[in-house]
Amino acid sequence: MSSGEQETESEFPEVPEGPLSVVEDCWMVGRRNPNSMLQCNTYIRTFRQFGGQRNVCIDPGSKLDYEVVRSNVEQLVGSLQEVHGMTVNHQDPDVVGNAQDFCEGNPEIEMIASEEVWRLLQHNMLTPGRLRLSPGRTRSISTQQPFQFVPTPFCHFRGAMALYDPEQRILYTGDLFGGLNRLGRVHLLAEEDDWQGIAQFHQIYMPSRDVLRHAVREIMNLQPRVEIIAPQHGHIITGDLVGLFLERMHELLVGYDLLSGEWDRQNLSGYRDVLQRLVDCVAEDRGEMKGAICVMRCETGKKVVYVKRGVLPENVGSHTNKSGRDASHGRTGYRRSIGLCNSNGGSRQLASKTIHRITSRTDGNHRIFEARYGA
Ligand SMILES: [Fe+2]
Ligand SMILES: [Fe+2]
Repeated sequence: MSSGEQETESEFPEVPEGPLSVVEDCWMVGRRNPNSMLQCNTYIRTFRQFGGQRNVCIDPGSKLDYEVVRSNVEQLVGSLQEVHGMTVNHQDPDVVGNAQDFCEGNPEIEMIASEEVWRLLQHNMLTPGRLRLSPGRTRSISTQQPFQFVPTPFCHFRGAMALYDPEQRILYTGDLFGGLNRLGRVHLLAEEDDWQGIAQFHQIYMPSRDVLRHAVREIMNLQPRVEIIAPQHGHIITGDLVGLFLERMHELLVGYDLLSGEWDRQNLSGYRDVLQRLVDCVAEDRGEMKGAICVMRCETGKKVVYVKRGVLPENVGSHTNKSGRDASHGRTGYRRSIGLCNSNGGSRQLASKTIHRITSRTDGNHRIFEARYGA
């Protein structure tokens, strides 16, 4: 989203400026742009020890915001030369656009990134004084390594790395938990209504619910418990919203999940054709079919419905499961299946029960498009 897209800044008088305090020794120094639907957050965390201080920049931010970021850092610590460390969640331009400016501001700066991120990021010709590649998941901190590294693979880059600061119980998550905002709504701390923008952002930029679930589980396992989620976009999540938004994130369908539903809708008439052909095949082979038949999508590859051996003619999509029975669908890797259920002898009542059993499983993983009796 470019600046100056729609309305003028004067229409939004409530725009916070300058470094914004998150908690003591942690500041958000990014620009609040009321004309944009995407705010980029850059953080400065100050670690104090033995009378000295070490300032670390988390996600240096977009070139579009450089002047504001520089000015805020100068207000806070004096100059870019006083920023001793820099971490990057992943290599997108809204995260690392200002990285070289920080390198030039302090030629001794230590940069921390995952190996996967650095492999790509080095093409920007960055010149950090020292490079530290994060070693995957860590469970402890030290003076040299004040954050725990929490990989959040595919959220949204393979090598995305969240950082946990157990002292302040703040988790810096990069794009994960980032959100879009309505124009002018650029407050720092999230409110419940802000979930809409978070969901929308994830639906666009995150690949699938599975990877979100993995990340949520990793976050839930952190000790001590996370109290603040500080993403690279939008609002900082605090208080009861941390648990609430983690729960919602666990259930959110995004990216491929949504695309796949769209394809299913487009392919529905094709599924119906196949369904009818299955009915015809069975009728030709076995006489009139009295069982239940359905078209369903199985996302997880779980075995859901079985048919008795021999009911399906060969080459119409029957798969054998471990127990030796024919499973009408469910082999790992099959995302869409045609299910045929004979319902044990073909009574209409049993068929009805079977359809009920199948359709009662229409959670996010199993979706029924159509269920009906054969013939
Ligand atoms: Fe990104
Ligand atoms: Fe981002």
